[in-house]
Amino acid sequence: MKHACVIGWPVAHSRSPVIHRYWLKLYGLEGAYEQEAVRPEEIAEFLKTLGSHGYAGANVTLPHKEAALAAADRADQAATTIGAANTLWLDAKGLLHASNTDAYGFMTHLAQEAPDWNKGKRPVMVLGAGGAARAILQGLIEAGASKILLANRTGDRAKVLAQSFGPRVSVVPWEDRSKALAGCGLLVNTTSLGMTGKPPLDINLSALPLDAIVADIVYSPLETPLLAAAVGRGNRTVDGLGMLLHQAVPGFERWFGVRPEVTPALRAHVAAHLEAS
Ligand code: ATR
Repeated sequence: MKHACVIGWPVAHSRSPVIHRYWLKLYGLEGAYEQEAVRPEEIAEFLKTLGSHGYAGANVTLPHKEAALAAADRADQAATTIGAANTLWLDAKGLLHASNTDAYGFMTHLAQEAPDWNKGKRPVMVLGAGGAARAILQGLIEAGASKILLANRTGDRAKVLAQSFGPRVSVVPWEDRSKALAGCGLLVNTTSLGMTGKPPLDINLSALPLDAIVADIVYSPLETPLLAAAVGRGNRTVDGLGMLLHQAVPGFERWFGVRPEVTPALRAHVAAHLEAS
């Protein structure tokens, strides 16, 4: 029987067990998916001994994503570029491999919901400069975005991030975020604003073209105030739940040997969990 887990500190908020246990049951697999709360000072040792804890691999969440990359014997290009790993697996020789599937998750959902997101090659506006922003910039650039505007409350963080991605990313001052939406084809919120318990994202969408797409990585609530405002003026929207579901696919396949599908039934199952908590 194969075991995998999600490692975090804290870890109880993670939705990964809901997703992976759903798939284990659906595909009738002999496997288990656990939660491991590991303190920052113990993470290096825990990852070194992942196999002896009985695990074939793991998801890694905050604050351990950088430590997960550092602990890996092999890292793929996504993890290296993003500078953080969210998916780990051990190979037959016992080597620890690291990937980051956040960009894959975001881009797969975006391509499904709005395949024309880059039609006309209009600028993309990205809000935020944390780990999620880094993953999404990587995904957008790899998928062919030619001009990305990056705005973050702390301007210096945006500058550092933009520099690491080269000339396709330029920084917009946070106070100019609303007017910079003119001519954009896609707006992505990667900040935590709009999440339950946090203030809403303060932005005026009136300059954004009506045929632009508005995406949020926040999935609780499913319809954030940003997405509600976008729907209200007729923009198409892409919610954060799809990214969460799709980023889980590569890990499940590595650990349990079946490539799982993201279906409307899985979405409804996870959405019901979100509503209940
Ligand atoms: P993650 O790695 O999950 O992206 P993070 O590094 O904490 O998390 O980043 C959170 C993002 O939300 C940051 O861009 C943060 O802006 P700062 O870099 O200025 O901190 C943004 N954010 C959080 N609260 C905010 C607020 N009240 N107003 C504007 N931006 C906010």
